[in-house]
Amino acid sequence: MGDRLATRLHRVPPTIFTTMSALATRTGALNLGQGFPDRDGPDAVVEAAVEALRGGRNQYAPGPGVPELRAAVAAHQARHYGIELDPASQVLVTAGATEAIAAAILALVNPGDEVVVLEPFYDSYVACIEMAGGVRRPVTLRAPGFRIDLDDLRAAATDRTKLILLNSPHNPTGAVLTRAELAEVARLAVEHDTLVVTDEVYEHLRYDGRAHVPICTLPGMWDRTVSISSAGKTFSFTGWKVGWATGPADLVATVYSAKQWLTFSNAAPLQPAIAHALDQEAGFYDLLAKDLQAKRDLLCDGLSRLDLDVFVPEATYFVSTDVRRYGHADAKAFCLALPERAGVVAIPSQAFYDDQEEGRHMVRWAFCKEAAVIEEGIRRLGTADLRA
Ligand SMILES: Cc1ncc(COP(=O)(O)O)c(C=O)c1O
Repeated sequence: MGDRLATRLHRVPPTIFTTMSALATRTGALNLGQGFPDRDGPDAVVEAAVEALRGGRNQYAPGPGVPELRAAVAAHQARHYGIELDPASQVLVTAGATEAIAAAILALVNPGDEVVVLEPFYDSYVACIEMAGGVRRPVTLRAPGFRIDLDDLRAAATDRTKLILLNSPHNPTGAVLTRAELAEVARLAVEHDTLVVTDEVYEHLRYDGRAHVPICTLPGMWDRTVSISSAGKTFSFTGWKVGWATGPADLVATVYSAKQWLTFSNAAPLQPAIAHALDQEAGFYDLLAKDLQAKRDLLCDGLSRLDLDVFVPEATYFVSTDVRRYGHADAKAFCLALPERAGVVAIPSQAFYDDQEEGRHMVRWAFCKEAAVIEEGIRRLGTADLRA
């Protein structure tokens, strides 16, 4: 691409998933890298989509989303969190959470504006902040607990901060931000009069009874928060790319100002199916979380038996390990060699850090896979020589 690449993308590295998934395909390795489930979501939701396809829901959906999905998102927020939304003005349907994140950042961040973001980060945040011309101010979540260092947070959030970009439950660390952590974020947001964009796509995939607290419910936060989620993780339909942003009408309208020029609208026949899922299939994600907790334990126990330092996640699809005990200072080299050595693909977390030293020895593994796949992955790792 070289010289032809627009400067706004010069500082955005290509996504690590392309490299690692290509390596998985080339070597036939088990892919414990990318976060997509082996098993699809509920049949009834697929049937609802088929019905919509056959029933003539095939032309452009309204830009802000079909009315029944906006109503279903509002009902979901009321049921789970007591958040009352006007579906017509406070809910915006997007092409996955990814588009909601992009639209929010493009609509809210001016060139030079500072964006406080938790590091390691979901990699689309970096690309979107760069495309908006924003300046990242990372706050690093460090092993073993991956808690927010409140001193680091206070140093990062200043009057220059336009936006605090949160992600809880957090990918890749699996941390669920506590009410106390969120309260300090909220206090700083109010003190410095910043906006908050919060990515909550793993809101239902939590373990050991941990609670999810949407930051928009904290005092002083409603008017300054855009909350984002999607159906991908909640209903195991990551390929459908149906997401949403919610918040006060003025912020939702602001996000729509950018969103209308990105996709305008997407997934017309899938939107009513996700409305059905939100209204009727809450049991699915409760069971999914229980199932994933067992798979988390399976993978974490297996990795611990291999003598890796394992940081057991509180939520999400992912577990992080430190590979230094195997003599590897550089997890990227470890992960690039792993498919040939062990027939397994994992992701070097370095790609999710600005501060490369912080993430150099961390590897992310996904457990949103069939138990047999996880067991086979552990077996392969157990018989391979993983030392540097
Ligand atoms: C933290 C986080 N946000 C957003 C997304 C993307 O969501 P969607 O597929 O709905 O665009 C992911 C997917 O992995 C994620 O991990």
